[in-house]
Amino acid sequence: MTTPPFAKRQILVTSALPYANGPIHLGHMLEQIQTDIWVRFQKMRGHECYYICADDTHGAPIMLRAEKEGITPEALVARSLVEHRQDSAGFLIQHDNYYSTHSDENRSYAEIIYAALKANDKIAVRTINQLFDPEKEMFLPDRYVKGECPKCGAKDQYGDACEVCGTTYAATELKNPYSAVSGATPVLRESEHYFFRLTECSDMLRDWTRGETTLADGRVQPHLQPESLNKMNEWIEGGLSDWDISRDAPYFGFPIPGTDGKKFFYVWLDAPIGYMASFRNLCDRIGLDFNTFFGKDSKAELYHFIGKDILYFHALFWPAMLHFSGFRKPTGVFAHGFVTVDGAKMSKSRGTFINAGAYLKHLSPEYLRYYFAAKLNNRIEDIDLNLEDFVARVNSDLVGKFVNIASRSAGFISKRFAGKLAAQLDDTRLLEKLQAASEEIAAHYEARDYAKALRDIMALTDLANQYVDEMKPWELAKLEGADHQLQQVCSVALNLFRLLTLYLKPVLPALTEKVEGFLCISPLTWQDAGSLLLGHTIQPYQHLMTRIDKKQVDAMIEDNKQALAAAAEPAAAEPAASAVEPIADTVGIDDFSKVDLRIARIVNAEHVEGAAKLLKLTLDIGSETRTVFSGIKAHYDPVSLIGKHTVMIANLAPRKMKFGLSEGMVLAASGSSDDSGVFLLEPHEGALPGMRIR
Ligand code: MSP
Ligand code: ZN
Repeated sequence: MTTPPFAKRQILVTSALPYANGPIHLGHMLEQIQTDIWVRFQKMRGHECYYICADDTHGAPIMLRAEKEGITPEALVARSLVEHRQDSAGFLIQHDNYYSTHSDENRSYAEIIYAALKANDKIAVRTINQLFDPEKEMFLPDRYVKGECPKCGAKDQYGDACEVCGTTYAATELKNPYSAVSGATPVLRESEHYFFRLTECSDMLRDWTRGETTLADGRVQPHLQPESLNKMNEWIEGGLSDWDISRDAPYFGFPIPGTDGKKFFYVWLDAPIGYMASFRNLCDRIGLDFNTFFGKDSKAELYHFIGKDILYFHALFWPAMLHFSGFRKPTGVFAHGFVTVDGAKMSKSRGTFINAGAYLKHLSPEYLRYYFAAKLNNRIEDIDLNLEDFVARVNSDLVGKFVNIASRSAGFISKRFAGKLAAQLDDTRLLEKLQAASEEIAAHYEARDYAKALRDIMALTDLANQYVDEMKPWELAKLEGADHQLQQVCSVALNLFRLLTLYLKPVLPALTEKVEGFLCISPLTWQDAGSLLLGHTIQPYQHLMTRIDKKQVDAMIEDNKQALAAAAEPAAAEPAASAVEPIADTVGIDDFSKVDLRIARIVNAEHVEGAAKLLKLTLDIGSETRTVFSGIKAHYDPVSLIGKHTVMIANLAPRKMKFGLSEGMVLAASGSSDDSGVFLLEPHEGALPGMRIR
């Protein structure tokens, strides 16, 4: 086996910057775990690789949140930074720097980039009309305007989209709008805004999004995944709009130079620049050259790991900003899907919006690192944390299979051979098989197909266990004159275990450290796959990993529920601050009987590709089958609905939606705020599909 000439790569890696106004949850952790595994793998391969992150500290929500807590935004972001760093460390995320966008470095790069864009005639100034809160004296971001949906009339909808019918609209289209900050009725007011002329960037973006980079080792890296590229094509060909990059005071952010402190950079302008700022801060601390990584002609690789929701910012705005301000562009933007828990979106009311802190109080970080890794690939698919499967898989793979190899062979080496492994091995066939898998496993890690890497590693783990099962060291130990054989078998088993540990190291760094300790070896690198431990003395075996008890998971969910309830933000101001809506105007029985309500059996329920809030329901109402799109995705796992009975309006005019025709509506109860939940109606037992409700 010849090794190809080693080309040392320089790699800079980021994961998205979490907002400073909320705790770190398992969605953030999926991303950081995905990134961390990749970075640890690159470092094990011998490359020069840095992992950069930071808190995203600016914007109206952070300003308002601080105000509500009676502290300054600076104090709020300082507190978050401590907590967020702690949570990442708890999950063994090895950032080379975790910094803040509220920093001198970031202000400086934001100003440099803005000045360069301006000099390149990429900034336009235009007057726009925006809703203004006359009481609070501030312009209102869409999320802070609420009112009635212009389409379906649902109350208390946000200024960007209706959660009931799924329509998107401008905040100015809401009926009876009110400010979620003060409750006042907003007024339209003019303001001058600064725009980045994205419309002029389509050619450059067409090239970049379709482009690829040839790496130092000869591989070709496309800038985007195929699914992302399709999305970007749609956006570019659909016509780009100029991007509003300014916000009016009061705002927590960096003032735009030359505006007398009246205009600020929009948080999404300085957020990705935070990658540069965090790296710059590292460069200054450890003496690296910034331009080697970010200069226009940099040959280093730059990768951004992000969630699918922020693709637009990273695949369009960011490369365009970099290009027209004279910096290098990313080598790759790697998007992942969202975490769901037991098949449904993480939910505060169900306690499945799991905070990092609550998880860590009850469970070891490596369980989750392993579970996520076993499900991660390089496509943009949601990753389900099925709590039962989580317990079963970790217990079976890690404790039952992997750790078992060492625990069944190490004791004999300590007790019978003074800790010494055999100096020569009679049969190395299985070991060679494991060694030969090294490059293929590496290729899976490199391609971010951790699921495949772990499948291969677990298949090898099964072979190692079969070997121990067949050789039965516990029986050899009882046989007279079988010492040589016993030492051989246990030495092979421990060498198998060492190789498997090496392959799992990017995923299980703490466990690996324990193993390195007990095997008395220096930190494993990928190259070590080429060697074996012979005639080497090891320490007595120490316990490596405990099985998960489902009770720990239940306790974690319970604890988390309570933490969520305690931390629940005081509800935003509402005109009628009551949980129970006022009773509607009186109607006659004739009006009521116009509504044809029927018992429906839910024959099928499924997610709708691309719909954030909808489930697609197939309903049997006796005489026919109907398709209904219902805005209950956040509240129900579709599988749990199949076979249940509910109530539908059977004579509602069908409505054409983006995802198809909706032929009616199912009935559900809800309070006046999102957090009170949504509850489908279910008839008493005996009701049959098609029965009328009167
Ligand atoms: N502050 C911006 C990112 C700026 S990057 C220059 C932001 N912050 S966030 O806190 O909302 O999200 C941070 C990252 O976590 C994003 O990549 C986001 O996609 C990811 N996730 C947030 N919730 C998630 C899940 N439920 N599942 C997986 N990832 C999710 O966006
Ligand atoms: Zn609506």
